[in-house]
Amino acid sequence: AGVENTPSERSFIALKPDAIQRGLIADIVGRLERKGFKLVAMKLLTPSKELVEKHYEDLKDRPFYPGLVAYMAQGPVLAMVWQGPGVVKTVRQMLGATNPAQAPSGSIRSDFFLVTGRNGIHASDAHASAEAEIALWFKPSELVDWKRDADQWIL
Ligand code: TYD
Repeated sequence: AGVENTPSERSFIALKPDAIQRGLIADIVGRLERKGFKLVAMKLLTPSKELVEKHYEDLKDRPFYPGLVAYMAQGPVLAMVWQGPGVVKTVRQMLGATNPAQAPSGSIRSDFFLVTGRNGIHASDAHASAEAEIALWFKPSELVDWKRDADQWIL
């Protein structure tokens, strides 16, 4: 099988503290898993303030930045790397808009979250930011190189 010849694209995806507190890990991770993306790294951690500040560096001049950093640094955060063709763009579509009230019904943010400041999940928005975020949150040795037996049915 295999019409897809570039299956190695990766994205950094993280469940935020509200999703963990509300017991939504299985529901949300299950959507990514069932879609066909391959999990290559996953860890639960309480990120340092410095790590969160770096992750959201582009937003440092926005008024919501201090509150965003405090919310994320409370932890826990479920940090993940997922792989597959088109994973960056497709997972952003699966999330829906930043503001859950504007996310299409059926999207993760629409189905589980109410407001921008508690929107539950992060996903990289471009290939370059995905690679930078993976390097920020994970050591190379934490990425698992595994062959999935189902690939012939998925890719
Ligand atoms: P952003 O990178 O713009 O959105 P996304 O997560 O969809 O890539 O913003 C990062 C996070 O900052 C967002 O998920 C929630 C928070 N945020 C606010 O709290 N208020 C805001 O007005 C915006 C734009 C974002």
